[in-house]
Amino acid sequence: MRVSEGGIEVEVPEQPDEGIGDEVFFNPVQELNRDLTVATLRAYRDREPRAEYYLDAMAASGIRGVRAAAEGWNVTLADIDEEAIDLCRENLARNDLDGEVVQRDANALMHEEVFDVVDIDPFGSPIPFADAAFANTRDLVCVTATDTAPLCGAHFHSGVRKYSAVPRNTDYHAEMGVRILLSAMARTAARYDAGVTPILTHATSHYVRTYLELDHSATDANAAIDQLGHVYHCEDCLYREHDEGLIADPLDVCPECESERVLAAGPLWLGPTHDADFVAEVREECDESMGTASKIERLLEDLEGELHLPTHYDQHRLCKEWGRSASGMDEFLGRLRDAGFEASRTHYGGTTFKTPATVEDIREATRDS
Ligand SMILES: C[S@@+](CC[C@H](N)C(=O)[O-])C[C@H]1O[C@@H](n2cnc3c(N)ncnc32)[C@H](O)[C@@H]1O
Ligand SMILES: [Zn+2]
Repeated sequence: MRVSEGGIEVEVPEQPDEGIGDEVFFNPVQELNRDLTVATLRAYRDREPRAEYYLDAMAASGIRGVRAAAEGWNVTLADIDEEAIDLCRENLARNDLDGEVVQRDANALMHEEVFDVVDIDPFGSPIPFADAAFANTRDLVCVTATDTAPLCGAHFHSGVRKYSAVPRNTDYHAEMGVRILLSAMARTAARYDAGVTPILTHATSHYVRTYLELDHSATDANAAIDQLGHVYHCEDCLYREHDEGLIADPLDVCPECESERVLAAGPLWLGPTHDADFVAEVREECDESMGTASKIERLLEDLEGELHLPTHYDQHRLCKEWGRSASGMDEFLGRLRDAGFEASRTHYGGTTFKTPATVEDIREATRDS
């Protein structure tokens, strides 16, 4: 079947109704991810004009790499699967674009050749490809993870095994997934004396996507490790706190309600998950050729305003806890701000917000007078 996306046209096989079949993979739902990749690559070229070589390390039909080639990047499309590689060649040619196309294991290729930007878009977890990506990439590693159940703690043991960290299933589960992934990426990059800075990260419909800028020095790697720490979370009253460092100091009881049902999660990435100025630049780069332009703009708007705090709240979850009915988000956040607290919406959901206020502060500030 023929697919048009962002001004290019590619041929992709009809996909099986359920699960993954033998055909070369294509997921129309990832259009938003790909549109945002293009906007990010445009903004990134202004940030790092020297960046030129882009590797689509798991190219499948090649749609992402073809779009990067159409943007003027010097692209390499790689896949381990022979049929995928044939399709990549056809799809570049169909759009009159040049690029290297190689049938290779992504890890072997990334160890052998240096690229400025590397895109890791595997089935499930990116962990098997992280070492090679951070060992050799110059500027930017783009990562998609679709194994959200392990990442957010719903599949606890799988998360522990894959990410060498303790994820916990909380009411901010998507953000837990983001911060477990970023923690593992920061620790992996640090092994190669590279420090990561997440310049854009989003959790959208069952996947996490992050863009990690690299600085290649031991000092930068140490600085990234300094962004790791733990979150302690009360399952009864939803109180949470965090502290920095690789050594956990868990709470025995909740300081708010004295419950002993206090979870400890980590090491998590506690630092910023985006750079607001960069997010604004990415927003400038969205255009109407992108099928998901309006969705991306909304997402980027939320991201740009999101406070840099390691967890978020959900108004509906809190109101349920307190036996109250929920109010409109603007009114709710307005009350918090009137009480002197910073507050922002988040991209994790329409009723989610971030604030440094405690659960008790929020309850008081938003109480009906
Ligand atoms: C989720 S698909 C990629 C989708 C594609 N990037 C897109 O935007 O449509 C994952 C691809 O990774 C390929 N793959 C799996 N293991 C690989 C490996 N070790 N090295 C390179 N490619 C691999 C698979 O053949 C498959 O085509
Ligand atoms: Zn409590």
